[in-house]
Amino acid sequence: MSVAAMMKRRAEDLQYRAASAAKVSWYTAFYVMGRHIVGPLTKPGEVPKPSRFGGVDMGAMRKSFTKLFDNERRDIAAGLYKMPREFTQAPNPAASLRRAKDYLDEAGKVTRRANTPGGGVEVRESAPDGLPGYYKQNFHFQSDGWLSERSAQVYDTQVEVLFTGSAGAMRRRALAFIAEEVARLKAAGRTEEDISLADVACGTGPLLADIADNFPAMPITAVDLSEPYLEAAKRAVAGRGRVSYLAAPAEKLPFADGSLDMLTTVYLFHELPPKVRREVAAEIARVLKPGGLYVHLDSVQYGDTSMDLLLESFPKAFHEPYYDSYAKERLEKLFGEAGLELEGTKIGFLSKASAFRKG
Ligand SMILES: C[S@@+](CC[C@H](N)C(=O)[O-])C[C@H]1O[C@@H](n2cnc3c(N)ncnc32)[C@H](O)[C@@H]1O
Repeated sequence: MSVAAMMKRRAEDLQYRAASAAKVSWYTAFYVMGRHIVGPLTKPGEVPKPSRFGGVDMGAMRKSFTKLFDNERRDIAAGLYKMPREFTQAPNPAASLRRAKDYLDEAGKVTRRANTPGGGVEVRESAPDGLPGYYKQNFHFQSDGWLSERSAQVYDTQVEVLFTGSAGAMRRRALAFIAEEVARLKAAGRTEEDISLADVACGTGPLLADIADNFPAMPITAVDLSEPYLEAAKRAVAGRGRVSYLAAPAEKLPFADGSLDMLTTVYLFHELPPKVRREVAAEIARVLKPGGLYVHLDSVQYGDTSMDLLLESFPKAFHEPYYDSYAKERLEKLFGEAGLELEGTKIGFLSKASAFRKG
């Protein structure tokens, strides 16, 4: 390696370390403030139930958090994908403060909703017809569920605060699989322009933006059932890549049989009832080409790490009606029954990316 290349790599390494550390400090501060607003996770007078899992090994948790960023730094240095834009863009203090204020305002509302009997489903009253019943809930006790611009505006901050600034890096464990697959297809003679990918349940588009940045010529379709979240994704990804947007349910995807090279879902499956998970798995297998790749990213599951206690307490503190059954779901079996074979997994702190190949 030339001296110039070595210096460039060193500068990138330092940039990554500094920007990720600043991000983690910022969101950790809001995590602490948020915890203060939310208060104890048990309601007044409620006796906490003893856990089946002793405690959380804080040392192991810290190690796993650091490893997530170390792995991403290594992937960037190896040229697998670009330095994420979130670490290269100059911070916008006014926008960051506005988002922080929105987050703190919403934390108060979340707490009131969590302490109100029936507070997890109030969105049912106002949700438009035609949406599945399980979808019309205030997941995470958030105002308006998935169904307003206000909810879409605060969602990214909520996720980053929950994971103390590691959500972007966790999602990009899926990007690592996607980048490996694009490289494999290119080596086999395909061009970026003719490789198709769908990001299903794209939400406000955080992974979508990273995919578009890395593969600007690749046609990408972003799908979500929430119009306001799709609109937020359009704004976030504007000017990057070749992305089109479709409002549709994951259980009835708007693609022809065998038409996609790749499909990804991020943090979707833990929001679905077990029966719907099977419908969506079959639908993913239907739309992928033979030999196509499905990249699944969601929470780690029981037995994946030494942090099982967190998986047990998470759905109690937040409105996550299907999380516990998801944490017990055997993904290899779920997707295997649909015709998708597990090819590899990458654990990144509290998330797990799994790649499945259509046989
Ligand atoms: C937890 S968010 C994840 C969003 C995004 N992938 C991310 O990384 O933040 C779940 C998203 O799934 C969408 N969603 C839930 N059920 C869906 C379904 N059946 N079909 C399509 N989208 C769905 C919601 O509208 C929401 O945007």
